[in-house]
Amino acid sequence: MAQQEDVFKKIVSHCKEYGFVFPSSDIYDGLGAVYDYGQNGVELKNNIKQYWWQSMVLLHDNIVGIDAAIFMHPTTWKASGHVDAFNDPLIDNRDSKKRYRADVLIEEQMTKYEDKIQKEIEKAQKRFGDKFDEAQFRATNARVLENQQKYDNLHQRYQEVMNAPGGIDLEGMKQIILDEEIVCPISGTRNWTDVRQFNLMFKTEMGSTADGASTIYLRPETAQGIFVNYLNVQKTGRMKLPFGIAQIGKAFRNEIVARQFIFRMREFEQMEMQFFIQPGTELDWFAKWKETRMKWHQNLGFGAENYRFHDHDKLAHYANAATDIEFHMPFGFKEVEGIHSRTNFDLSQHAKYSGKKIEYFDPETNESYTPYVIETSIGVDRMFLSIMCHSYEEQQLPDGQTRTVLHLPAALAPVKLAVFPLTKKDGMPEKAQEIINDLRFHFNCKYEEKDQIGKRYRRMDAIGCPYCVTVDQQTLEDNTVTLRDRDTMEQKRVAISDLRSIIEDKVSITSLLKKLL
Ligand code: GAP
Repeated sequence: MAQQEDVFKKIVSHCKEYGFVFPSSDIYDGLGAVYDYGQNGVELKNNIKQYWWQSMVLLHDNIVGIDAAIFMHPTTWKASGHVDAFNDPLIDNRDSKKRYRADVLIEEQMTKYEDKIQKEIEKAQKRFGDKFDEAQFRATNARVLENQQKYDNLHQRYQEVMNAPGGIDLEGMKQIILDEEIVCPISGTRNWTDVRQFNLMFKTEMGSTADGASTIYLRPETAQGIFVNYLNVQKTGRMKLPFGIAQIGKAFRNEIVARQFIFRMREFEQMEMQFFIQPGTELDWFAKWKETRMKWHQNLGFGAENYRFHDHDKLAHYANAATDIEFHMPFGFKEVEGIHSRTNFDLSQHAKYSGKKIEYFDPETNESYTPYVIETSIGVDRMFLSIMCHSYEEQQLPDGQTRTVLHLPAALAPVKLAVFPLTKKDGMPEKAQEIINDLRFHFNCKYEEKDQIGKRYRRMDAIGCPYCVTVDQQTLEDNTVTLRDRDTMEQKRVAISDLRSIIEDKVSITSLLKKLL
């Protein structure tokens, strides 16, 4: 575990050192859980967005995109339930003055029991080797049974307080924290306040006070911008059910516990798609979108074993099915995307609050009804983090040296080709620029002439550039260059005129998209 934490720390510093992610307002020592993307980060992020956008809008005849404003009429959030119910239960430690999410403290306690069980299993596995029978060990080992019992009891109590009839049972939550003897990680004490609900939406004011300013919110999800535009898009696009509306944009949440770098931020970006369907077909569509979205993730080649579904036990009152796609981060399996069957809740609520009829006239059945919705919702920043975590490697080389390399999927890499003149003379820089000028229209190229070639390769490995080309004396004679592959480090001599055809297909988003069909 400690080793994984170490790796994660290294990834965070790597992101800063190589221009991927900086703390926001860095010169003022940063702002909590807000980050800026640097020169390489923005390219990677744009590529992730493009991969998602094109997989939705380009590959589906019945999905279109929109770009709604961040500010929305305040009634939107009353209708959606966010004003009344977008809350987290928080608790303060009186000694450290630190604030925590009470549900997170309890979930971490459950994870501790799971970790203890896992440690026993790993120890026994080492001891018994091939003869090890995990099921039997789990059923008989006293320490495992004891921790499993503790876990089950806690899980049961947690479910009860979270699903209490009148909403979350806040007193019950505090009692669990006290009974489990959970301490504040800073002060080490159990001097806790009561648990209170805390609304996560950021508020601001629109208009000057003299005009009668009104309170508006920074949207906590992009989905509502899609719901309020359902009629506009359906009518102007003459859309027939089933159809989807996709959107990428910023969302804001005043997270109480903002940790793990860009995993939980206060300003982040979502890629959401609402798929409008006939009522009664939702569970089939839910299954279909689960499969489609998992395929999109696994298409990046990170290995199926690094993904899993986590079906929700506790459903929001408007949902009749929900699952998360989780990715194996250095700090465990964590949610990257949510897929929700949201019934007709949102459209019905907006119809009620706006007084507008928000329905679909089905020409096949001659009926009007409020469509049901399947939502797929993924965080750009979490996707970014999962890609960085999986791609980062400190590699031991056969010659005893080490290199830090990002094995980014070539189609997502910020820079696709780096071109180096071997020396700064004999017309080599000019030749290298000529190559770049020819290829820059097809993919992102970078010119580098500083330091020896070995150092230049290392810098490119560190930003995940899949290909490097070196212009040398022979180039000037026969128009060939050495082409070096980031992952294998193999070099081969190729004609300049073949570079585009060798590289373009491997680094294009289109090549990723084709594998989805
Ligand atoms: N419209 C549904 C919705 O917003 P959600 O599960 O709250 O559902 C969807 O969020 C996705 O947005 C999550 O799976 C995650 O990837 C991302 N996300 C949510 N909160 C985030 C935060 N504070 N920082 C970064 N990403 C976040």
